[in-house]
Amino acid sequence: MLKLLSETRSRRLLDLFTQAGYHETNLKSHLGAMELPSRQLRNEPRLLDRTAEPTLLNALLRWFWLGRSQSQAAVCAAVPCELLSILLESGLLAESDGMLAPAAMLLPADGFLIASDHPAAIERRESEMVLWPNPTSRFLSRFAIRRHSRATLDLGAGGGILSLGAAKHSDTVVATDLNPRAVTFALFNARLNGVENIEVLSGDCFAPVADRTFDLILSNPPFFITPQNGYLFCDNSMELDGLCRRLVKDAPGHLNEGGYMQMLCEWAQIAGQPWEERIAEWLAGTGCDAWVMKGLTQDPAEYAQQRIRETSQDPSRDNELYHGFMAYYRERGVEAIHDGLIVMRRRTGSNWVRIEEVPKTPKGELGDLVVSTFAANDLLTQIQDDASLLAIKPRMSAYARLEQVCGQVEGGWAPESITLRLVEGFPFHLEVQPLVANFLAGCDGKRTVAEAIQAFAAVANAPLETVQRECLAMIRKLIDRGFIAAEAV
Ligand SMILES: C[S@@+](CC[C@H](N)C(=O)[O-])C[C@H]1O[C@@H](n2cnc3c(N)ncnc32)[C@H](O)[C@@H]1O
Repeated sequence: MLKLLSETRSRRLLDLFTQAGYHETNLKSHLGAMELPSRQLRNEPRLLDRTAEPTLLNALLRWFWLGRSQSQAAVCAAVPCELLSILLESGLLAESDGMLAPAAMLLPADGFLIASDHPAAIERRESEMVLWPNPTSRFLSRFAIRRHSRATLDLGAGGGILSLGAAKHSDTVVATDLNPRAVTFALFNARLNGVENIEVLSGDCFAPVADRTFDLILSNPPFFITPQNGYLFCDNSMELDGLCRRLVKDAPGHLNEGGYMQMLCEWAQIAGQPWEERIAEWLAGTGCDAWVMKGLTQDPAEYAQQRIRETSQDPSRDNELYHGFMAYYRERGVEAIHDGLIVMRRRTGSNWVRIEEVPKTPKGELGDLVVSTFAANDLLTQIQDDASLLAIKPRMSAYARLEQVCGQVEGGWAPESITLRLVEGFPFHLEVQPLVANFLAGCDGKRTVAEAIQAFAAVANAPLETVQRECLAMIRKLIDRGFIAAEAV
């Protein structure tokens, strides 16, 4: 098991890994791809071939990427004594009969070096396996709000990848996990990466922070909806999606006013219910505004097959498992399983809930997009009456672009369509008329909507009442989609 090194020894260990080239950019080119060894991918021969030369980097990769033991004799020329001694002291390596065996995997991610269990732990069916940074952690990390937080909670922290990211903009981070092994890894990783403002606690859901509140809660909980209870990292012990529901219901009690909770989840759609209904019930009466972004939808058969592939390495059990999963879904009337991201913000007053299917997830960091979407929804609730909307001073988003398409006419080009498009965030777009495009250009944050509409009606030579009706509807839509922002008056 891992042992906490002194700060100096941890710093030295990280330096030695970096000097050896054990970091994201170099590993991508060295390994050809950042693929973990996987039976399904059958990539082990390629990874072994790539790491065949007896160098320091390859010795480290064979231990901490491929999870292979190596004889002391084979590595002694390439691995400096100092590094070997720190690896043994930390428990990252264990020596037996001249063989050096790795006790963890080490993955560079988001600028950190993260120790976790190796994927082979799934094959060994170790229920307390600690998960490595993976696409779900990266997804949540990209949406995480990166504003100053006095206190952040990472619930279900695993090795602590989300805590490390949050530590940069938080005064303090509390990382909690039910799995005591995860607590050891999270502590180890915080020390390894020289991050001092992370406190690590063990316990169920919010129990370890019963009397504490936060500006930001991040959670990538075990959300798989399956009849099995094999692994702490993915299987929840409650019926269907019960754990995610419980976290949504309990989170508001641990949020400061204005504080956000961002959680990945899956939820079941039960026969006869629209897909939004179940999640709307979770969010009702929480004292929070909420935005749910639904991603993938799978039917139970497709979902069962995927989860079995991910968590069972033994094809001889596939039939039995599959029928067990399907009976579980059938008995509970599960028609589909959806995944998505829930963002809640505690706010006193009348709350709004926005549940939607999102188009393709945008690239890059999306924390600011989350905050601006909440601001847009706040504004929409404040300008429900026309008088309030007419009084605001709208300004176009810096990310709005206008595209004109021209068709061929004899001897030249003639405008065919004009499209307003967002180049950051969700790639929304809508077609507009040339006059409307001019009107929008005038949304510069200086004129009120009423003034802009009056000017527009004069130019268009159209009745003010008709112009106003159409413009107000369009402005509401543009605020909703993030093309326009404003402060309520
Ligand atoms: C999907 S992993 C996420 C790990 C890490 N946060 C990440 O994003 O990569 C879920 C984590 O939740 C922990 N967990 C499971 N049940 C829990 C519970 N009831 N309370 C707190 N943590 C729990 C697991 O041990 C596991 O570390």
